[in-house]
Amino acid sequence: MMKRVFLIVLDSFGIGEMPDAAVYGDQGSDTLGAVRKSPYFQMENMRRLGLFHIDGPNKEGGEQAQEPSFQGAVARMRERSKGKDTTIGHWEIAGVISEAPMPVFPQGFPKQLLNQLSEQTGRGILCNRPYSGTQVIQDYGREHMETGDLIVYTSADSVLQIAAHEDVVPVEELYRYCQMARAICRGPWGVGRVIARPFTGEWPAFTRTANRHDFSLQPPAPTMLDLLKGAGKSVISVGKIVDIFAERGITEYVRTENNADGIEKTLSFMKQDFEGLCFTNLVDFDMLYGHRNDRDGYAKALAYFDRKLPELTDAMGEEDLLIITADHGCDPDTPSTDHSREYVPMLMYGKPCKPGVNLGTRASFADIAATILAYFGVEKTCGGSSFLPLVMRNRNHSGTAGKWAYFGEKSREDAPESADGRTRMKKTITQEQLRSLACAAIDMRECSYAPYSGYHVGAALLTENGEIYRGCNIENASFSATNCAERTAFFKAVSEGERNFRAIAVAGAPKDSKKLDDCVPCGVCMQVMAEFCEPDFLVIMAKGEKDYTVKRLRELLPDSFRLQRTDCF
Ligand code: THU
Repeated sequence: MMKRVFLIVLDSFGIGEMPDAAVYGDQGSDTLGAVRKSPYFQMENMRRLGLFHIDGPNKEGGEQAQEPSFQGAVARMRERSKGKDTTIGHWEIAGVISEAPMPVFPQGFPKQLLNQLSEQTGRGILCNRPYSGTQVIQDYGREHMETGDLIVYTSADSVLQIAAHEDVVPVEELYRYCQMARAICRGPWGVGRVIARPFTGEWPAFTRTANRHDFSLQPPAPTMLDLLKGAGKSVISVGKIVDIFAERGITEYVRTENNADGIEKTLSFMKQDFEGLCFTNLVDFDMLYGHRNDRDGYAKALAYFDRKLPELTDAMGEEDLLIITADHGCDPDTPSTDHSREYVPMLMYGKPCKPGVNLGTRASFADIAATILAYFGVEKTCGGSSFLPLVMRNRNHSGTAGKWAYFGEKSREDAPESADGRTRMKKTITQEQLRSLACAAIDMRECSYAPYSGYHVGAALLTENGEIYRGCNIENASFSATNCAERTAFFKAVSEGERNFRAIAVAGAPKDSKKLDDCVPCGVCMQVMAEFCEPDFLVIMAKGEKDYTVKRLRELLPDSFRLQRTDCF
């Protein structure tokens, strides 16, 4: 079985203002909220996946809704980067957080920048201000043809564009100039894109040619794409993903005409065999409707996507995940035609994924990258923290089952005999089962909240019925209020009505340590185990997926505190 993740970005599909929206002039923005008001709004399939269970102003049904009343795993995603453009949004989805927005030049580019460009190209510069691309060749085209000077202009976005007539500056030469500009535009001048804009014809009938070319800024750190490609996985770009990542970390790409074409091309990749990521951007929502404040157009485009969604989900295989998200907002109802600083949705769906999981609000888009990397078992060196353990239905580290079905009735190799041979366990446990539990504990370290000690612990507790309850350590500024991973797992289970347990796996080490410690549960946790478990309860101390020590509770805690008399009450 091939594992595949289909990650689809609905460009600009925000779901409500972020707390700092006012800093961006976007207070009250809510793209979904605006588009819902259109009579053309129709998203029944997305509703079934859980769109309206996501936290925020579009949430419906309140807490009393029956779970699981939706089919996906959903979250509201916060953008941690300082910015609201396409590039920064996509980079964060891929695990790279930007501390500063990309620079824009509403007054034109600084003299020093243009001087460098002039020197290197040996040509003068015309225009140097924000301009419409068709108007700029009308107004400066003739002068350009007479002098050979380059038409340099920008827009509201972080772009430097160079227009030149193909007879004056051959296309290849224009591309070289753009590469020079790309090398100059770094640091504070680090515009998102340098764009070559060749044109032909005679004034006043100049026309732009299809030889436009984008030279994107390289992501400043390794992205999920680089890491997946480095691990030998396919990384397929559908639409403008390839430009956003400056062609880095991509093994194959196709460009698209429009949303319909992007969906078709994604569907055609679903029919191919590969292991890895197919990353699709559907840009019409933003380019054609958000920026033009066309609420009905936006609603129709969403309705189209929604109608096609069953085709996508039907084409998914056993180990495929579909993740639908966005890169920023672009509320068509606000006077602004620019992007808006909003939360975005995350909807995950697939056979390996539990239905009806609401992950609340996640701290960063980068959690998507961390989750995808965890799914492929690729080491994460980019940002974000994985929510994979919280959404997987049945899981061991290689991505298959982890519940009772897997802890199979069929394979009954005996587990270690109890020391005195008297207490036989009701059910035996296999090495594979132990390993699966150890892997779940290792995974759970991702969820650890340990800003004080930096020591990340995960635990996975197996009940008699084959359920696995997972836990991580949760620290507190008041240190003693900290909860260990084992107790988190136990308390989750007990509060769900579980009382019978077979085994617990524990994995602990400092956050970025390459190796795990032989993490023996602390005395308090053992006391809790003693409360609920038989002496032959198994404790698995995981040092790796295949490297663990198994002990009985009685070996670790031969005796425990018990209330011997109750007449004190
Ligand atoms: N910790 C556990 O989660 N389990 C144990 O059995 C021992 C310690 C956590 C608590 C704290 O957050 C960190 O490890 C360092 O003590």
